[in-house]
Formats: sequence, structure tokens, C-alpha cells
Amino acid sequence: MVDLQGQYKKIRWQVNREIKKVLKSAAFINGPIVKEFETNLKDFLGTKNVIPCANGTDALQVALMSLGLDKGDEVITTNFSFASTIEVILLLGLKPILVDIDSKTFNIDPAMIKNRITSRTKAIIPVHLYGQSCRMNEIMEIAKENKLFVIEDNAQALGSKVKLSNSTKVMSGTIGDIGTTSFFPSKNLGGYGDGGAIFTNSDDLAFKMRGIVNHGMYKRYYHDEIGVNSRLDSIQAAILNVKLKYLDIYNKRRIAAATEYNSRLESISEIETPYLESDSDSHVFHQYTIKVKNGKRDKLAEFLSSKEIPFGIYYPLGFHEQKAYRNNFNQSENFENTNIVKDQVISLPMHTELSKSQIDFICNSIKEFFSNN
Ligand SMILES: Cc1ncc(COP(=O)(O)O)c(C=O)c1O
Repeated sequence: MVDLQGQYKKIRWQVNREIKKVLKSAAFINGPIVKEFETNLKDFLGTKNVIPCANGTDALQVALMSLGLDKGDEVITTNFSFASTIEVILLLGLKPILVDIDSKTFNIDPAMIKNRITSRTKAIIPVHLYGQSCRMNEIMEIAKENKLFVIEDNAQALGSKVKLSNSTKVMSGTIGDIGTTSFFPSKNLGGYGDGGAIFTNSDDLAFKMRGIVNHGMYKRYYHDEIGVNSRLDSIQAAILNVKLKYLDIYNKRRIAAATEYNSRLESISEIETPYLESDSDSHVFHQYTIKVKNGKRDKLAEFLSSKEIPFGIYYPLGFHEQKAYRNNFNQSENFENTNIVKDQVISLPMHTELSKSQIDFICNSIKEFFSNN
């Protein structure tokens, strides 16, 4: 699905040099390079504060911890995402309220958020799934009207842009009260291990979260609240610092690969290529995910396996059906779109090193499948 070796080869000398510097300095935790990365990411995003942390799941958890919520408070989120989004809500004793997705974009449907709001609702977590930003203007309006916090889960969409109502464009993850991301190796900005970051324009929330990621410690060995240990290590920061310089180029390559896929697959009537909600820079294609109609998804997957073409099913179930979470929901609730889409989605290889000939081979194989099935 990704070619991290191919990508590494092109930046090897820079990455190796930066890693060696960290080894020489022996400043493995909270070294100056972490601060440097923080500043560079802040500039890239155009946000006031960046707090690096250990991974994207911690980023979400710390963000929620900083809001001062009480047990049982409700947090609205999508029904269709990676586990972390719901896991942290449940771990903190909060109540996840799931909202169905828009079947075209796979993102939370803002129109369905409104009637899930109660007096206990405190926050909304939209997830910019597969790299496409959610309809943030609508979400922010609902949040403002109902005095709700917004935490953008931007793990899959770092670098995607959102056009605000006044037509200016800003980076996804910087619109809500807090944005979070992951530097898992396969992400658009991936380290060579785990990593994550939290962003906010609020100095108060930033101060609080800097304490929470460091055991709730605001003065050395004085713990004002229960926190966690969540740090980005210096070696990861050094690698990410190099790769951040290429993030725009990397995202452009993903968009170009998606355009190439689209032009070759659009003629297949039983496939729906990704729907673009807004301008081309609103989707940075963490995944290139198509919908396969007429119940043929699993058969296509089998066929791709026989050709040794990698693929991913993100995700096979909505949260309401997952064993770990399902007891928290009323099963009579209708997650119509999620229930349809989960059996249709399949993600094709998507990365910065994808060549035209690889895309040709993948698309010709898909065409071969549909001409025989
Ligand atoms: C939407 C989403 N949220 C959160 C995460 C969690 O990130 P991490 O794996 O760094 O904990 C991921 C990563 O897979 C993700 O895709």
C-alpha cells in the first residue's frame, strides 16, 4: 500500500545526517530538535500552538482531557473511522454519540449532527477521513450555536485545505478549538516510528495540554492534575523535520496519482471513484478509496490478491457494530450509509512513489476483473 523504502532512498543522506546529530547530542527526550519541529509545523499550519506527543491516539485523548469534561458528558463523532476516535471517548468515561456519514465523502454528515445534540453534549470530533476535510463551515456553525468544543481528528489529512465562508483557505486541523494528527509511518507526514501532535490557537488550552502530556506537571515535580506521559522523541522529530519540507510535494504526488487513477477507472460503471467535496487541495489522499457496487467488493479484493496487488478495507465495520464498543449504543439506531459503504469500500495502493506503470497495472487488472465478472 505504501513504499516507504523508495521514499527514504531519496532523502536518505539528510535523514541519516539529522539522526546522527541527535545521537551525538544524546538529547533523546525533549531535545532542541523537538522544539525546532514544533516551530516548523506551527509555521506550516499557520496555527499559534503545536504540542508534539507520542502518537495520534494520545493527541486525541489529551485534547479531550484538556476540556474539563465530566464523566457521562456526550461527544458527537462519526460512526466510520479508525478505532482511536471512539476509544479515547470511552476510556475517559465520556459518552460517544455516533452520527452517520455522508455516503459520498465518507465524512460525518453535518446535517445529522443537529438532532443528536442534548443538554449533555459538550464536543464534536469530526474526522477528515482518507485525507478529505469535513464540511467545517457547517460544523463550526453548529458548534457555535450550541457552545460545543470542536476537536478535528486530522490524522489522515495533514496539509489539506479548507475554504472558509469568507473564501480564505486554512489548513485542516486549525479551524476547531483543537486539531490532532498522527505521524504513523504510512501517514502523509510519517515518521520512522510512532508520533503525533496537537494544535490549537488557544494559548490557554495549549498551556493545559503541555502540562497534561507531561504528567500534569506545570512546575517540576508538582502535579496539578492527572496527566499522561506522551512525548515525541528527538529521533522522530529529526526525521519529521526533514520530511515536513517535502510534505507539500508529497501531497501533490498523492493528488496526481489519484487523478491518474480517476481517469483510468471512471469508465467502469460498477465503480465510484472518490468524490471531491471542494477544491482539489481539500483532499490529500491519505487513501485512494473507491466504492464497488453490486456486491462485488470482496470478489474484487480476492482478484487483486491473486495478482499480488495490495489493498485495504478501511473499515470493515461501523463503530456501532464493533464488539468492543457496540454495547454503548442503541442497536435500533439507523446507520444506513455506514452500513452500505462498509461493504463497498476498497482502498488501492497510494503513496508518493507510485509510478504511472504501477497505476496502469492496477487499473488494467481491475478492468480485467469487471470484464469477466
Ligand atoms: C483517523 C485516525 N485517528 C487517529 C489515529 C491514531 O493515530 P496513531 O496510530 O498515531 O495513534 C489514526 C491512525 O491510524 C487515524 O487514522
